[in-house]
Amino acid sequence: MYKEYLTRAREILSDMTLSEKVGQLNQITITPYTGKTDELKELIRSGGVGSIILASSATAGNDPQGHVNVELYRDLQRIAVEQSRTGIPMIYGRDVIHGHRTVYPIPLASAASFNEGLVERCYRNIAVEALADSIRWTFSPMLDLCRDPRWGRIAEGPGEDPLLGSRMATACVKGFQGDDLKADGSIVACAKHYLGYGASEGGRDYARTEISDVTLYNYILPAFRAAVDAGVGTVMSSFNDINGTPVTGGRKYLTDILRGKLGFEGFVVSDWGAVCQLEHAGFAENREDCAKKALHAGLDLDMCDKCYIENLPDLVKKGEVTEQEIDTAVTRVLCVKLAMGLFENPYGKCANYDKNVHLSNAKLLSDESMVLLKNNGVLPLKKDTKILLSGPFAEERRTLLGTWTLDGSAEETPNLREALSQKAAGVFRYTEELKDAEDCDVIVLAVGEDYRKTGENHSVSDISLDGAQVELVKKAHATGKRVVGVFFCGRQMALGNAAGFFDAILYAWHCGSKTACSVADILFGDVVPSGRTPVTFPQKPTHIPLYYNVTSSGRPANGYYGELSQGTYDDGDYAPLYPFGYGLSYTVFEYGKAECADGEVSLEELKSGKKVTFSVEVTNKGDYDGKETVQLYISDTVASVIRPIRELKDYKKVFIKKGETKKVEFHLGFGDLGFYSENGDYLVEKGKFNIYIGKDCLTDNSAVLYVI
Ligand code: GLC
Repeated sequence: MYKEYLTRAREILSDMTLSEKVGQLNQITITPYTGKTDELKELIRSGGVGSIILASSATAGNDPQGHVNVELYRDLQRIAVEQSRTGIPMIYGRDVIHGHRTVYPIPLASAASFNEGLVERCYRNIAVEALADSIRWTFSPMLDLCRDPRWGRIAEGPGEDPLLGSRMATACVKGFQGDDLKADGSIVACAKHYLGYGASEGGRDYARTEISDVTLYNYILPAFRAAVDAGVGTVMSSFNDINGTPVTGGRKYLTDILRGKLGFEGFVVSDWGAVCQLEHAGFAENREDCAKKALHAGLDLDMCDKCYIENLPDLVKKGEVTEQEIDTAVTRVLCVKLAMGLFENPYGKCANYDKNVHLSNAKLLSDESMVLLKNNGVLPLKKDTKILLSGPFAEERRTLLGTWTLDGSAEETPNLREALSQKAAGVFRYTEELKDAEDCDVIVLAVGEDYRKTGENHSVSDISLDGAQVELVKKAHATGKRVVGVFFCGRQMALGNAAGFFDAILYAWHCGSKTACSVADILFGDVVPSGRTPVTFPQKPTHIPLYYNVTSSGRPANGYYGELSQGTYDDGDYAPLYPFGYGLSYTVFEYGKAECADGEVSLEELKSGKKVTFSVEVTNKGDYDGKETVQLYISDTVASVIRPIRELKDYKKVFIKKGETKKVEFHLGFGDLGFYSENGDYLVEKGKFNIYIGKDCLTDNSAVLYVI
């Protein structure tokens, strides 16, 4: 896809000086040039800038950012194209993470939709809005698998499962890039943070990681592999080290695995300042050494720390870096620029879009992302219910948009008070202190966490609901009225200290522009909830890490996932409060027995492409039409590297009308039944596989398959 531009890229390269080449590997931010526009223009004119990041700080996700300045970008681009000797256009990048003007659910929430078709459509909308503001490249999707919700950046990724992560990766890349990168409405995506950043120790941002190669290949890499297979143009190297090697200086990661095993053809950009961080990490002696090590590892574009531009020319003169290595990196950058049509169209296209269509897609996705965690029958509310609304997020707007919202407008975002008062036909009141609760039928509490508790450099040590909110919940419960909790969160919280006081819990996440509208529709039953947990919800923060795709301990007393009462902690079991894949509906889905068409298949047949069919009948026995996410898990019972007790291998989100039965089929083949060895070789081993089909990872509805 990118290599087809190699010949043209090499032609361009043959006419470039060393300093122009190094300029192509330099990404700058405009902020340091405030008041020094002439200096900036001269740098561009001299061929010193390959790319500009449209962000004014290193932690743009939570720092207020300036707005995009399309006219300035066009002026600067004109200098690159018309006044520099090579005429190579710059590529503008911005962190357009889960929305641009219209804001969609945070990525963790959109994973909860289990609806990648809808995610792809929404990400296409995002690309169109970004492109209209001259943004040609986004630093998204973030694909870091995460098992520690203390990490603030869990909000930005797809959660704890490699298959779900891979499906979301494909959807986002296809949405951003489309089928044709040159087409109107396409922008270049960036799979980040490669690699292992989500495994930071203790959930502390930027901290070290210890990752075995088996874990790397089986859990952490799959989403990146999916992004590469979907044609992602760029990959961002992460800040962290893995087992003592910073990824940004690790040839094993950036070259051997990424290019050798995954077949990536685009270019690698560092995270902000990650090249010079090699010195801070104690991996390089000085900035010159940083540049040398990063280039050698396979890092192509240096984000914002000027290590390359300041050091590579001298390193070549000294013979410590070859011009060939630089040529390789420049060629990769040029191939992406050519593939995206930047030379023909350096200024971006004027994609016209209908903001209302984008808003309605954002609404659909937030409808499907919210997870009904608990309901003792209070929901859905009848239209004439007298509601009393309280809680710290009842009138909040900005938090609903979530972290990494650079261009969305909080003022234009309805809050829950507004959304509910429009829907409630009965009496609706908002009070901060639960005053006069006797007059109401139901208390709705808007609780959760501020968006600044999530995102980059915003980890927390305690993921429980804070003390003041727990007090409020208890007070509401003590009134004797039914209490509905609406949780606005950027991660799974540990709700063991609060869940018991609620009659219903709707986990609304930070779902973007339409968050409050979706909540109102779900509470009143105009939308039937269908989101599923993309992560495990522990009872207590001290149970972290807790994730579903865990291997067996060999001591049966430990049970699966803490499900057995004995053999867990002395002070209580660690069974999750809500397991992976879990979510309630207003209707009732009943499952028939999991069926397997063939009880056995030979390894040879699998290798030659045979698929085995599994099926289940699902009946909607309730009073609402609704969507059900039917999940298929496998367990490879004996293997040379022990396998998890459950691994999600497929799922289908199906719409089933009330009274209707649907047969849901799955087809598993060679690519579904195996795992990666520590060398990264993919193996399917003979033996018994248990196949589980049901509503979440705890299902026992199983069939058996023998691979012979
Ligand atoms: C950062 C982040 C990364 C982001 C980049 C550019 O510090 O880690 O996710 O894309 O800077 O803003």
